[in-house]
Amino acid sequence: MSQFQLRLWRESDAAAISRYANDWEVARWLRDVFPHPYTQADAAGFIQMCLTADPAADLLLAIDRAGAAVGSVSLSRGQDVYRRSAELGYWLGRSFWGQGIMSAAVGEICRRGFAQWDILRIYAGPFANNAASRRVLEKAGFTLEGVLRQSVTKGEDILDSCVYSLLREEIS
Ligand SMILES: CC(C)(COP(=O)(O)OP(=O)(O)OC[C@H]1O[C@@H](n2cnc3c(N)ncnc32)[C@H](O)[C@@H]1OP(=O)(O)O)[C@@H](O)C(=O)NCCC(=O)NCCS
Repeated sequence: MSQFQLRLWRESDAAAISRYANDWEVARWLRDVFPHPYTQADAAGFIQMCLTADPAADLLLAIDRAGAAVGSVSLSRGQDVYRRSAELGYWLGRSFWGQGIMSAAVGEICRRGFAQWDILRIYAGPFANNAASRRVLEKAGFTLEGVLRQSVTKGEDILDSCVYSLLREEIS
């Protein structure tokens, strides 16, 4: 049974989060806005952004294990005609992989997002070769809508990405 809490970020999380985020095995699956190497200043900047974000637009939560932030899970609402959709993002420190934490965390943030916003749809865009992330989404009840061919350039690699979604009526 995975034991964790989702909570708001704290300035004191910067040291722990930079330690877990400074890992190519985490960064290689994420957009380049997630820096590599990842310094404590990067973590502090990220946490400031979270603390000042508009709660009507973003739900930005730390994954807390025994009092320490070990990962991140977020929902960001779209704008204009996409205002009732939200994008899901997440990562977890490598030492905590394979314990069911992210599958449970994704389920929890989706339930919170549907409860507090009038959104209809939550979607995620894992790189197609990210088998662990795709499995997380499948376990959380997401449906694969399609594959975006050659949509991602990560370093030297050209990758496909996937679109997965979960609708309000599909939440368990
Ligand atoms: C993807 C990630 C969040 C998964 O977190 P986690 O807590 O280990 O996930 P869970 O333990 O809840 O579930 C992982 C599932 O993927 C499976 N899995 C892991 N590696 C796999 C692989 N190489 N091939 C197939 N399945 C794999 C696990 O067996 C598990 O499925 P199961 O419960 O049916 O056995 C974590 O690996 C991570 O942070 N990766 C780097 C960042 C990232 O990819 N973020 C998502 C970007 S879209």
